[in-house]
Order: sequence, then C-alpha cells, then structure tokens
Amino acid sequence: MPNLVEPDTQFRDHFVDFRVAKTVNTIPYDEAIPQKPAKETPLGNHSSKKVTVVGMGQVGLGCVVAILNQDICGTLALVDIAAKKLEGEAKDFQQGSAFHQHTTILASDTYDVSENSDMVVITAGVAQQPGESRLSLVDRNANIMKKIMPQVLKYSPNATILIVSNPCDIMTAIAAKLAGPDFPQGKVFGAGTCLDSSRFQTLIAQSIDLDPKNVHGYIIGEHGDSSIPVWSSVRVGALPLLEPGEEPNETLKKIHKSVVNSAYDIISLKGYTNWAIGMSTAHICKAVLNDTRTIIPVSTCVRGLYDVEGDVFLSLPCSLSSQGVQRVAVLPLTDSEKATFQKCAKGIWEVQKPIWENLLPPKEVKAEPAEPKSEG
Ligand SMILES: NC(=O)c1ccc[n+]([C@@H]2O[C@H](COP(=O)([O-])OP(=O)(O)OC[C@H]3O[C@@H](n4cnc5c(N)ncnc54)[C@H](O)[C@@H]3O)[C@@H](O)[C@H]2O)c1
Repeated sequence: MPNLVEPDTQFRDHFVDFRVAKTVNTIPYDEAIPQKPAKETPLGNHSSKKVTVVGMGQVGLGCVVAILNQDICGTLALVDIAAKKLEGEAKDFQQGSAFHQHTTILASDTYDVSENSDMVVITAGVAQQPGESRLSLVDRNANIMKKIMPQVLKYSPNATILIVSNPCDIMTAIAAKLAGPDFPQGKVFGAGTCLDSSRFQTLIAQSIDLDPKNVHGYIIGEHGDSSIPVWSSVRVGALPLLEPGEEPNETLKKIHKSVVNSAYDIISLKGYTNWAIGMSTAHICKAVLNDTRTIIPVSTCVRGLYDVEGDVFLSLPCSLSSQGVQRVAVLPLTDSEKATFQKCAKGIWEVQKPIWENLLPPKEVKAEPAEPKSEG
C-alpha cells in the first residue's frame, strides 16, 4: 500500500517566483566554490534519523506527540492496520508542521514506509479495560507481535526495537525470540519501568517539595503489579532517602502502592493511559538516537542476574546507546529486595512459559505476503 500522506504538490506552480539561491546574482561567489551542496539534503532534514511507530492507538499517538515536540528525528513513519483512522491522524500531525522542526511524516497500513528505520517503537495491541491486569492481555498481544516482528525485521533489519505493548516484559521476550539469536543482544528491549520510575520519582519529589529530577530512584522488575521499589538506592540530591538497613515507613509504602495503581486509576478515569508513556518513549528514543548512554530503567533479559535462571525480561537501570541496551546496572539489593525480584521473575516466567516454548524458531517465521493487488 502506498504512503497515505504524500506531500500535496498541486499548488507548486504558483511559486515560480521563488528561485534557488544559485540563480540570484547579487553575492559575488567565487567560481571555484561549488554553489550546490555536495550532498542535497531534504527540506528541514535537521536529523537524518528515522523512527517508526507501529500502532496508532492512544499510546502510539502519545508517542508521536512527544517525539514531534522534542524534535527527535527527521522522518517519522506511522503504521497501523486501521488505514482510514491512520490517514486522518497522519494528516492531522502533518498540519502542525509549522510548529516543530520539520519532520517528514509517512503513514501506511503496510511496512514499506518503515524501511530503514533507526528505531521502531511497537505500541500495537489490545489495551487493559478498567480493572483488567496487564498479564491478562498476553495471548492476544503475543499473536499480534508474531505478525508485526517479521515485517519490522524485513524492512529495518538494523533498527533498535522498543516494545511498549503490554504485558511489556513478556512482549519484549517474545519480540527478542522472534528476532532470532543472530539479532544483536540488547537491540530489542522494553519500555519496562521507565514510566513506573517516573511516577515514583514524581511522588517522592512531591512529598518533599523538590524537583523530580533531583530524585534518583528506580522501580525495577515487572512493569506491572509486582514491580519493586529499590528503596535502598533512592537518593535525593546526593543524600540517601533511607539510612543503611532502614525499612520504608508507611508513607513510602503508600507511594509504591500508588505507583502500582497509577494505570488502574487513570484507566478508570479516562479509559486509557497515553501521555506519560508517550513522554517516556520519547525520552528513550532520544537516548538511543543520540547515543547518549543515559541510564534508564528498561526491560532486558535478566537471565543470570540475582540468580534468575529463565529467559525472563525485567527492568533494571540500563545505559542506552545507539545499539539499545549497552550495560545493565546490577544494583546492590537487600535480601528482601532480591527475594522479591526472584519472585517477580518466577511469576512472569509462569505466564510466559507456554507461549515461549511454542514460539516458532526464528528461521521458520515467514514475512507476511504482500496484499494481493486488486485488478483493474
Ligand atoms: N508499556 C507501558 O508503559 C504502556 C502504557 C500504556 C499502555 N501500554 C500498552 O500499549 C498497548 C496499546 O495501548 P492503546 O491504549 O494505544 O490501545 P488502542 O486500542 O488505543 O490502540 C491499539 C492500536 O493497535 C493497532 N493494532 C492492532 N493490531 C495491529 C497490528 N497487527 N499491526 C498494527 N497495528 C495494530 C490498532 O488498530 C490500534 O490502533 C496496549 O497493549 C497497552 O496495554 C503500555
């Protein structure tokens, strides 16, 4: 299917009076200086980076808004199976082009528009209904992931792939297995507890009336109900929040409870969550596309860490480079934090195992055939 939002060329003839600079003879150019740039770059190509967002539902829209407003890439490709709605969303975004650095927006219900992306963000899938847990989405979203990954890999074999769809940790594991053993480790990772950690930092900062950016603290483990607050490593400025060996008090425990309940709370109020996950995604994309080595808690394979044995993906603070997860910060955990992490890994594995063991080996996963062309 062609790009749904080709630039409109019907008005071009009205602008014949605009000439390219080299034809204006007012500046005495030295003949020796080439007047044409050695390599023509597209209009407003402030960045050569290309990002594809797969899934243009509420979360995909939140990601696009944040990516556009932070001028993260030069080309943004949007893919969704709902072609008509996608076309509307893409046109709506394009019409805001005067208010951000020029980003070329492409959109299609097929993956050719995603070709040669530097980064692909997958948000497609079923979302939680009020009161529903993330883990209950697993079968439906695993089937969607099986359709998406071969197409992503076919068109952008060198992209870094960020999984946002829930349950995020299991979807990341599935995507990594579908990518195959030859796909560089760390290049498929999940948004994980980046968002939970932001909620955590914000609530702690509000409780002591400080800037959330001055609170360094991580939620690790599952992006979901069994996430773990690492109280032992929370710092405010450079000061530890707790003394060594001190247990969190009831107020701090309530803060974590509130983090866990955040999505349920927002979904009961507005039906979905999207703005904060959009901002988290843009933050992660910026780190990868600019190769910043920023430490962000994201979901990565934790086999061998804290005595976890299975191929389970959970969040730990990771430095992110252009190749995705570059290093994992193995935080010193207290005995009870470590035991909770192991319990969390076990719980995730129980849900993941049946799907994981029945996933086709990567070489047998075939790209979907192109849609048959209609005749005449
Ligand atoms: N990781 C996080 O922190 C986080 C936060 C919020 C939501 N989520 C998850 O993100 C996912 C999307 O949530 P939402 O609110 O945007 O849902 P939504 O229902 O609004 O949108 C889902 C979109 O996916 C599209 N889609 C479905 N199958 C597809 C396919 N095979 N290929 C391409 N597109 C396809 C649909 O057409 C739809 O536009 C859910 O799984 C949700 O739980 C994750």
